[in-house]
Amino acid sequence: MSRLTVYNENTPATHIIDTTDSTEMTRALKEIGVRFERWTANAPLAKDATDADVMAAYSADIERLKAENGYQSVDVIRVLPDNPKRDELRGKFLSEHTHDDDEVRFFVQGSGMFYLHTNGRVYMTLCEAGDLISVPAGVTHWFDMSASPFITCIRLFMTPAGWVANFTGNTIADAFPKYEKQAA
Ligand SMILES: [Fe+2]
Repeated sequence: MSRLTVYNENTPATHIIDTTDSTEMTRALKEIGVRFERWTANAPLAKDATDADVMAAYSADIERLKAENGYQSVDVIRVLPDNPKRDELRGKFLSEHTHDDDEVRFFVQGSGMFYLHTNGRVYMTLCEAGDLISVPAGVTHWFDMSASPFITCIRLFMTPAGWVANFTGNTIADAFPKYEKQAA
């Protein structure tokens, strides 16, 4: 179940907010400029579904987001537990970074954990199938897909260059619970 746990950035052992209520999650995340919405993602996808298959299954959602926000590019990130590169893929975004573009994800299978670091707080957000999240450009964050990843996300962005990670060098991510601890 989707879940938001908020911490003061200096006290990763004690949370301020912990909720699975989607209305409450949407409200709390909106306060920091992050869009979070529960949509529906129940199109059947084969284990060997291609990116084109995923995009075709959710074309109406993709077109709606493009029309609303002017996103130019769409792709699919899909990582299954038996992916031989799972450790490398997980490690790529596990350190705090920003992007010059919004980071928009529609989760259509599986789950992943976003950590948004802003206003002196860390917003740990477990996203599951059906969740739409949009992290504004410049907001510091990291992402954990877990050691045994199962995730299919549709990604939308303005330009491929805007999606490059700018790492901050802050090691704060090391102090907070990893996906396994929180989602268990
Ligand atoms: Fe990111």
